[in-house]
Amino acid sequence: MDTTHQMADDYVRIFDTTLRDGEQAPGCTMNVEEKVAIARQLERLNVDIIEAGFAASSPGDFESVRRVAEAMGNPVVLSLSRTRDEDVDQALRAVEGAKRPGVHIFIATSEIHMKYKLNMTREDVLNAATWAVTRAKRHLDHVEFSCEDASRSDWDFMVKVCTEVIRAGAKIINLPDTTGHAIPEEFGRMFAYMRERVPGADQVIWSAHCHNDLGLAVANSLAAIRNGARQIECTINGIGERAGNTSMEEVVMALKTRQDLMEVRTGIETRQIYPASRLLSQIIGQPVPPNKPIVGDNAFAHEAGIHQDGVLKNKLTYEIMKPEDIGIPSNKLVLGKHSGRHAFINRLEELGVDPETIDVQKAFAAFKELCDKKKIVYDDDILALANEESRRTADQFELVDLVVTSSTRSTPRAEVTMRVAGAERNADATGDGMVDACYKAIYKIAGITPTLERYSVKAITGGTDALGEVSCLVREDGMTVAGQGAHSDIVMASALALVNALNRLSARGERISAQHTFPTP
Ligand code: KIV
Ligand code: ZN
Repeated sequence: MDTTHQMADDYVRIFDTTLRDGEQAPGCTMNVEEKVAIARQLERLNVDIIEAGFAASSPGDFESVRRVAEAMGNPVVLSLSRTRDEDVDQALRAVEGAKRPGVHIFIATSEIHMKYKLNMTREDVLNAATWAVTRAKRHLDHVEFSCEDASRSDWDFMVKVCTEVIRAGAKIINLPDTTGHAIPEEFGRMFAYMRERVPGADQVIWSAHCHNDLGLAVANSLAAIRNGARQIECTINGIGERAGNTSMEEVVMALKTRQDLMEVRTGIETRQIYPASRLLSQIIGQPVPPNKPIVGDNAFAHEAGIHQDGVLKNKLTYEIMKPEDIGIPSNKLVLGKHSGRHAFINRLEELGVDPETIDVQKAFAAFKELCDKKKIVYDDDILALANEESRRTADQFELVDLVVTSSTRSTPRAEVTMRVAGAERNADATGDGMVDACYKAIYKIAGITPTLERYSVKAITGGTDALGEVSCLVREDGMTVAGQGAHSDIVMASALALVNALNRLSARGERISAQHTFPTP
């Protein structure tokens, strides 16, 4: 089956590598279920290709690629692979269940990488690349080849390598700026040079994969497109190694907003961008910086009086994009006390939440409870409730009750009741504040004291009755996991976030070793 599709010349394929290059970033690890949830959102975004992982790197990665491959309909699902035979075989096996499988083979072509990292000659690299592509090509059609560190490689050597891998059957040639070293003008010239000199260049798709070390990943990707690239490799929120990868939302919206100049299009359903950004941020526990283009909280906020005045008269004075095109909730009063379950489900769907993935009954009950507490319930509140529900799956730990006492004259104290593997347990503790006391009591019940690496609180909507969203990052036994919780009471949201993190630690611990470190009642 030809999975590269003959597309019109102005079509730019979006290759999402959130689950592979994105996940490699510190603190961005995801479990299999989380990866499948992200993949489903990528499918709603209508990305063309999903790089689901690096199958040979670990049994967990193999399983994630396999599960994502089975779950996807339209997008091509591929696994990264080095040029080793066991890598190629694992990659092929992991994508077997995909409707549209693919393999992405890479080897470094820069002198510095060949000499110090690979300890290989140019000839070795050329042979390894050709051999691996030939092997993969025997089993499937969608074979992509990357010259790792292309932007620091000798262009004429890359011409040789690309010529041979195209002869061996590679359909996509990717030229990465692995170290984020390139400048747009030179990166664009590299694409023009390669496309001019490689025989058969017009028979393949040229792809750009950029890192953001100099803050130029999107600019370099656009320069590549200007010079004939028709695939962009990117991640949601730009997560990835070091300073991250090309941000999907930025490159897609740049192409859409400046279609007049760029004269290309993508197939991305842009109204799914904001839900995708939020979902990822929730899963990895990394808040989106407020000034992040497209999806940051301030991306459409006008503070200066002169700007506000202009926007009120005509939005186009200071807005080059419409927030609704990105799926940003309008934050209008959506539903109230008297709204029914049906309206609630409709609203969830409009916000990009698949009701099948959460316990709607519980989310609806939580919504009704919130309506009693809060005068105004916003779209963002509903998203937070849905995310809270989606987190409570097959949990080892469940928060049952929390009582905190604090006054200016006494030490804060917390009494916590939790269900651990079905049995109730209690503990109390005092602390430096109510959250500290509560966390100490939870640690007593869980029987571990992980390092709290990060803790942050965000009010989802305005007002003292707003839902608070707490994100925490905890580390135990070399594993770092994120936890999130949302509640109108900040201490409660904090407890939920920690319990969520402990559940993830527990699930990950079970996957990694058969030894369960958590005490059973
Ligand atoms: O940055 C890079 O070079 C990569 C390759 C493996 C494509 O991620
Ligand atoms: Zn990369």
